[in-house]
Amino acid sequence: MRGMPMKIKVDFGNRDISYNIEIKSYLLDSIGKILQKKRNYSKIVILTNEIVFPLWYKKLNLSLSNAGHKIEVIVIPDGEKQKCIKTYNQIISQMLKDKIDRYSALIPLGGGVIGDLGGYIASTYMRGIDLIHVPTTLVAQIDSSIGGKLAIDHPQAKNIIGNFYNPAQVFTDPNILSTLNDREFRCGLFEAIKIALVSSQKLYAFITENFDSILNRKKRIIQKLVTDCVQEKVMIVKQDPFDQNRRMILNFGHTFGHALETASNYRKISHGEAVGWGMLLALHISDILKIFDLQKNRNMYVLIRNMLNIRDLKKLDPEQIWKTILLDKKARDGNARFILLKKAGKPVMQVVSKRTFMKAVSRI
Ligand SMILES: NC(=O)c1ccc[n+]([C@@H]2O[C@H](COP(=O)([O-])OP(=O)(O)OC[C@H]3O[C@@H](n4cnc5c(N)ncnc54)[C@H](O)[C@@H]3O)[C@@H](O)[C@H]2O)c1
Ligand SMILES: [Zn+2]
Repeated sequence: MRGMPMKIKVDFGNRDISYNIEIKSYLLDSIGKILQKKRNYSKIVILTNEIVFPLWYKKLNLSLSNAGHKIEVIVIPDGEKQKCIKTYNQIISQMLKDKIDRYSALIPLGGGVIGDLGGYIASTYMRGIDLIHVPTTLVAQIDSSIGGKLAIDHPQAKNIIGNFYNPAQVFTDPNILSTLNDREFRCGLFEAIKIALVSSQKLYAFITENFDSILNRKKRIIQKLVTDCVQEKVMIVKQDPFDQNRRMILNFGHTFGHALETASNYRKISHGEAVGWGMLLALHISDILKIFDLQKNRNMYVLIRNMLNIRDLKKLDPEQIWKTILLDKKARDGNARFILLKKAGKPVMQVVSKRTFMKAVSRI
């Protein structure tokens, strides 16, 4: 795992908003030095949570302080609940107390929750200070730290208060994933499969061929998985920086997935697991509409199916789920719109009727 980090440039043709994602195992140890060459920050504030703090803060702190950076740290409780206006305010109060100024930077050290919250704070504090992502979950490394979407939740709606704000830099260290529990790791794996299915036949083949090594978290394989997923997501984001068209394909599995999460009240089923069911449903719909041959692609179906913990969705009320789906941004005139698949790497968006949906639900 020696050598230079892989550098992926997210280039929008404008230096002010372009940034690099550096990926390498054990990169955490070199972040201080790399940043020292870039900018002289008055202070760096690290935002993390009670789970990640004892695992990874010491290493990051050492790396930064050895390179002469001045550090403040803010540790908040774990959980999605923290992506709220109250915690937002508390953190801003602490930053004012710590004399964080316009020449400071904020590093969210954590998963998507810390990344979204920390990112939203960095984008609004004093009208924006430098944001440097250090993502610590698979979801955050391949998904939420890329693309500049940031948000906090409102009691009535998730991710409803937010904006687009690109980081100054992303440091992705796949070795950090070694402490992630299986449930969270699998959550990220569903998103990795999703990225592969909508964007790259080659990446999908890599995942299937190395599936056991991925589950066993073989370091070399995980580094490649993370790097390839980041590369694919960057390509999609570059084509659609403000999420107006092309990025829609990343919603594969999410139309049904989000409705499942709502139906289970965000508790019984994890986001990744819901997306897994959503991908299965999308494959059935694609098959029913004759754009995809499920029989021929049985392996794809089985791969996702075997990763799901809950054995079936019998308790579900399809009528209720359909109603929720119609609230989706993509729905129009009583029909839902789904991202479907022609084959690995070839997604399409299509209108889906209630009848087709019901037929597909009865098959999963
Ligand atoms: N902005 C985007 O484009 C985007 C994309 C996808 C998801 N999200 C958001 O991300 C959030 C989900 O992110 P997530 O799945 O990373 O959840 P998370 O941030 O809650 O992390 C999952 C769990 O893993 C723990 N954890 C984090 N890093 C760890 C490590 N290295 N070792 C051990 N435990 C660790 C966390 O404390 C938490 O308990 C949601 O709020 C979602 O809305 C945003
Ligand atoms: Zn998702």
